[in-house]
Amino acid sequence: MRHGMRIIAVVLFLFALSLSGCAQVVTPVEGESWLERLHRPFDETSMGKSSGVYGPAAPMPSEWPLPHPALQLSNEFTGQSTTLHGSDLYRFKCQGCHGAFGTGAPPEINSVIDPVRATSARMYIERMKKVGMDVASKDAVPLAGQAEAMLLDRLHKGGTDMPSPNPYLTNAEVRSLFAYLRQLAGIPGAEKRQVPVVEPPLRVGEHIVKSTCHICHASVGPNPSPRELSEGQIPPLSRLTTRLSLNEFVTKVTVGTPVLEGSPAMPARGHMPVFTYLTPDEAADAYLYLSLYPPRN
Ligand code: HEC
Ligand code: HEC
Repeated sequence: MRHGMRIIAVVLFLFALSLSGCAQVVTPVEGESWLERLHRPFDETSMGKSSGVYGPAAPMPSEWPLPHPALQLSNEFTGQSTTLHGSDLYRFKCQGCHGAFGTGAPPEINSVIDPVRATSARMYIERMKKVGMDVASKDAVPLAGQAEAMLLDRLHKGGTDMPSPNPYLTNAEVRSLFAYLRQLAGIPGAEKRQVPVVEPPLRVGEHIVKSTCHICHASVGPNPSPRELSEGQIPPLSRLTTRLSLNEFVTKVTVGTPVLEGSPAMPARGHMPVFTYLTPDEAADAYLYLSLYPPRN
């Protein structure tokens, strides 16, 4: 009930914000999942699974319930805005595929490191020196500029196998993300040039849902029965907030929950990666976003 009240409070808050005209434009998630778009089966991809590689797998039924189940939401999770850094935007929008270190899962998912390093003229000069070539700064700078333009273009348009993180990224978000990519790639001095952005909870939820959850979950679709779930159907985003309570949802996302499988149905380890790099508040932001902006076809 308390969460219901919070949701109402947020609706009022957002209404006020929309009147004041300073909210980023939040829109519902739409269309098929990225894996459906690529016709790529869930078992044959690394997309969206980076936390499964670096983090713990979903718990076995025998480990359930965990000693400290989720839902440790702070009182402010629906409160005003949070200050985010490029590293946060990277977590919400890129890490599911490119991993915590940007290295991806080649050959399916390229590393971001080299294309980002190429945006630094100084790094380019140093790299060429190592292989015995002297590049003048006046030659390196335009190359770095080209590399930067390509990277920014990718942030707007995505790639052939990479979803577009835009058109809904603001210029401030692009700058923030770009600054973090340079830090991730180890460009000297980049850590001192991070760009914070202030974002309301629904925007955080939108980033997470559109760039991470939507990789595997379609926006809308039929509500799978327990049997269809055990046959591998992935429930659409539009059904999650009615299938699960806020608590169950946050637990599923941040610590994992066993699933019922087979006939007769028995509890088994879940197939969805556990997003250990998302906080309970951030998972709750995703729930809130899905509740207030119902996914569309
Ligand atoms: C659904 C998975 C997915 C997500 C999410 C994703 N990427 Fe990618 N990315 C890919 C794939 C696959 C490729 C390689 C194929 C292609 O270019 O389409 C790629 C390629 C790239 C490349 C080019 C690498 C090269 O060798 O030229 C960069 C840079 C990049 N991604 C950055 C990002 C950033 C920044 C984000 C977050 C805003 C992001 N990606 C989110 C899947 C993803
Ligand atoms: C790599 C693919 C993948 C990604 C990315 C993904 N999911 Fe899932 N999700 C699944 C699969 C597969 C299932 C069904 C099997 C299971 O529960 O493990 C599932 C099940 C769920 C369930 C349980 C539904 C139910 O009715 O029991 C919830 C809630 C959920 N996902 C939320 C999310 C959220 C929120 C995100 C984004 C933070 C997300 N998922 C990202 C693959 C994914």
